[in-house]
Amino acid sequence: MLKRHLPMLGHTRGNRLAITCELKCGSACSHPVPNTSDNSHFRDIADAAISRRVALGAGGGLAAAVVVGANVAGAPAARADHGAHPQGDGTLTFQAIDPVPRVVDDMTVPRGYDWTPIIRWGDPLFEDSPEFDLENQTRESQEKQFGYNSDYLNVIVDDEEGTTGYLVNNHEYTNENIMFSPEYIASNPEDVVGTAIAAHGLSIVDLERTGAGEPWSYVVGGRRNRRITGFTPFTVDGPAAGSDLLKTVEDPEGMTVLGTLNNCAGGTTPWGTVLSGEENFDQYFVGTAGVEEQERVGISPGPTSRRWDLVHPRFNLNNEGYENEANRFGWIVEIDPDDPTSTPVKHTALGRFKHEAGTVHIARTGHAVVYSGDDQTDDYIYKFVSRRVYREGDKANNMKLLSEGTLYVARFEGNSPAGEIDGSGDVPSDGAFDGAGTWVPLVRNNRSLVPGFTVEEVLVNTRLAADTVGATKMDRPEDVEPSPTSGKIYVALTNNSKRSPDYVDEANPVAVPDGGNRDGHVIEITEQRDDHTSTRFNWSILLLAGDPSTSETAYFSGFPKDQVSPISCPDNLAFDSKGTLWISTDGQPGKIGYSDALHKVTLEGEDRGRVEQFLAVPADAETCGPVIHDLDDSVFVAVQHPGEGGEWGAHTSYFPDFAPGGGLKGDLVAVPRPAVVQVYLDVLGDADDEEAGSGGGAGNGNGKGNGKGRGQADRGKGSDNGKGKGRDNGRGKGRRDEENRRKGRFAEDGRRSRDWNNGKGHGAEG
Ligand code: FEO
Ligand code: CA
Ligand code: CA
Repeated sequence: MLKRHLPMLGHTRGNRLAITCELKCGSACSHPVPNTSDNSHFRDIADAAISRRVALGAGGGLAAAVVVGANVAGAPAARADHGAHPQGDGTLTFQAIDPVPRVVDDMTVPRGYDWTPIIRWGDPLFEDSPEFDLENQTRESQEKQFGYNSDYLNVIVDDEEGTTGYLVNNHEYTNENIMFSPEYIASNPEDVVGTAIAAHGLSIVDLERTGAGEPWSYVVGGRRNRRITGFTPFTVDGPAAGSDLLKTVEDPEGMTVLGTLNNCAGGTTPWGTVLSGEENFDQYFVGTAGVEEQERVGISPGPTSRRWDLVHPRFNLNNEGYENEANRFGWIVEIDPDDPTSTPVKHTALGRFKHEAGTVHIARTGHAVVYSGDDQTDDYIYKFVSRRVYREGDKANNMKLLSEGTLYVARFEGNSPAGEIDGSGDVPSDGAFDGAGTWVPLVRNNRSLVPGFTVEEVLVNTRLAADTVGATKMDRPEDVEPSPTSGKIYVALTNNSKRSPDYVDEANPVAVPDGGNRDGHVIEITEQRDDHTSTRFNWSILLLAGDPSTSETAYFSGFPKDQVSPISCPDNLAFDSKGTLWISTDGQPGKIGYSDALHKVTLEGEDRGRVEQFLAVPADAETCGPVIHDLDDSVFVAVQHPGEGGEWGAHTSYFPDFAPGGGLKGDLVAVPRPAVVQVYLDVLGDADDEEAGSGGGAGNGNGKGNGKGRGQADRGKGSDNGKGKGRDNGRGKGRRDEENRRKGRFAEDGRRSRDWNNGKGHGAEG
């Protein structure tokens, strides 16, 4: 019976894009916008803002925008989401690459750089992990292997030597139609469901390498290695823990949830834990018609695409005893990567919505402030301020910071006349899209501040509560990231096809006919008095994304449009050690015809607004989780959903194994594999001869695989201790042996020669 219901059966080429949308976010775009409130019609806001501006004095917003950077002693870089910094002296200098046509199935990196996958979907994590076997995937095997569709990523270096560390990576969702053959789906439907649930969640994986600047290898059986999946028990904490709204027949106390789902982006806390956002959780549940609380988060009564409910009754909210199961998802979860035995936590104090991520900044007052976007058309931006204060080195104290505090939602006010914000993207006469804003409190400690809502109701049905306080509808808030150097907060608003000219405001000012805000934008927020606990802020738009050669609305803070890389659909944000912003994209192929990318964006000085493309990911993939170790001349990205537009036997990507003619078992497989990639300065300086910056062309990756058995030994590790099996991940090249031999020699020397490195004239500066 079951196999007749799994969505992958009967799936035809003609509807694959619809299927892909369904698997990614439950086809959110094709459903009515869940926010039916009448919040934030711009004329009200503009009128209010103008009167406020008069009170503040003209230009109040601008004046406030320039003072923060010099005065954030309470926010040292070590407290930001970079993990332990590499101790190198790199500069990550590069020449921007040209945008890459969307059909190219290769990683494209700047001249002088090379890339390697560190770990791929299915790679074994433990000593007793089975090898990846495409035709025998089970829950049990996937629970011991790296998960699917990598999103949030951090790479933490343990010590100054820089030779050990670990990565933390979210696995957002699954593409069953390219993970399993139709035959396997037909004959093993329960294994398909079990594998898919186990391929969600997170992985924590130890890393090692010979020296700073070298590519990392992952360690099989590393001390910290862990899989967290859709089956892993989580403890619920905060004001809604134990609420009737969270109880099910399997958990009558409302305190323990099985699993985490749709973990999108996240953040690393100053106390060493990881926050992960449960985003499009609605798509996994069969809902009940006419339930407002379900509708507001997008849960619908129809069958889900994955039909997990046919194996696990908790995924159907109509099943007796499971009415509240969906209330147990949509949270920020916290995981201690240093303790593989720890029980991860779902923090109800931070509210329940489609959390893109959660990023922490320690305010000058010592309070932990967590910023989070709710990624849905017309939804909101939130921040949480802890009741307790952060104490350096006191992990027990710090791990309680997110259990109690104040949850706010953002209201934006423009400072230009409403008539000047017409959807065209034309900069208003005061020279900026900018204004002020208010953080409106919803819950303070254990008390609801929303009339008609208990504290539990505010936290479980946060969108409904926020609707009542006039929060500003935004163009799909993705990452909301505080800069570790300036303390300013950057918001990626990825796009909003529903935005129309009669429904624009200065914070969401683009609405072209038939396109809405097609390419998205980025807002810069400055907390009042540089106090991240403040209830007031100023804001300005850093850029309106677009391909400047074709877009009427693209805007880059006044930087010349003919000198920037095209950019569309900003999603994940990161900072390098100097505080320069990096933006990865999700959706460029469909909007401007280029592969998704990672861009560097200058924030300070005359070049503010300058966008320079650093890399492009393979066909159909999205660039996730950027981590910028500029001092180490390395950049890490999670390549998510490569080849998602293809289907079994007709893949559009074979990244990163590039073995379409290869075997179906073992280390190289003829399917696309989401992977974590390191881009690093090519110390031999010859990468550009063969690949870097070449763009390649579709299918040019054929024959890249070099089979099994390569790996750390080939990289001159000399440290194979029987655990680090060294998955070379199939990027073998003719020159690789020589390169590895030479790298090995330097490893033997016990040093990494910067002179050697710098002396190569690697092209990045030329
Ligand atoms: Fe999972 Fe909002 O991206
Ligand atoms: Ca303005
Ligand atoms: Ca995202």
